[in-house]
Amino acid sequence: MNRPVINTYFLPDLIPAGATMAPTAVVIDVLRATTTAAAALAAGAAGLIPVETVEEARALAEQLTPRPLLGGERQGLPISGFDLGNSPASYDDRVRDRWIVFTTTNGTRAIHACRGCRRVLLAAFVNLSVVVDRLVGLDRVDIVCAGTGGRIPLEDVLCAGALLDLWTDGEPDNWQLDDGSLLALDAWQRHARHWTGRTWLVDRLRLSQGGRNLTEIGQEADIELAATIDAHPVVPEWHWPANRIVRAD
Ligand code: MLT
Repeated sequence: MNRPVINTYFLPDLIPAGATMAPTAVVIDVLRATTTAAAALAAGAAGLIPVETVEEARALAEQLTPRPLLGGERQGLPISGFDLGNSPASYDDRVRDRWIVFTTTNGTRAIHACRGCRRVLLAAFVNLSVVVDRLVGLDRVDIVCAGTGGRIPLEDVLCAGALLDLWTDGEPDNWQLDDGSLLALDAWQRHARHWTGRTWLVDRLRLSQGGRNLTEIGQEADIELAATIDAHPVVPEWHWPANRIVRAD
């Protein structure tokens, strides 16, 4: 039996230059881009269009008919003139049937770093199980953590570990896990042993750089939302070169 190969990159910049990426990538930005993408699609958004700069987002919104919503953040805060920030809580009925041009500091960059993959799925704790369901049977997958300002992100690495734990189902030896995947799995399992309910995960995410940034700007409520496992059981899939994130078929 072929053992599926899984590589985990703790930052997009750690993908070796010129590497052939796996046919399927999973991008993780728990705080908050991939959590928010899942929340938006769960709330009935038509889809998201991830762009890397604020200027690009504004220009694209002008061109499209009907006019899409603009969403995203810089330094965690809503962008001037945008309809929505990057809080998953704000992606509610307002986004139903709407397209959202979306730009965030690290998340949208991580998504675009996976242009070489045939399928790109977005994962977070809020859609963990449904993403794992999509991975069953695949023989090569890359997991890409978005990071926080170029730093390795505790929350994304824990989420990668949780995903690997669920997927490998106690039999990691049946998979070919690279060192990044083994580290993520170890980090998750070490902590999961002390699991006493959701508070543990919330506390952990609070300690991360991304969590501290959100606390500093008064958006710590989003940490709890992001720690709610399987709250939004939808799989956002990014299509390139169409550059659209929609629910996976
Ligand atoms: C990012 O892409 O850097 C984030 O999702 C940051 C945030 O929401 O604060």
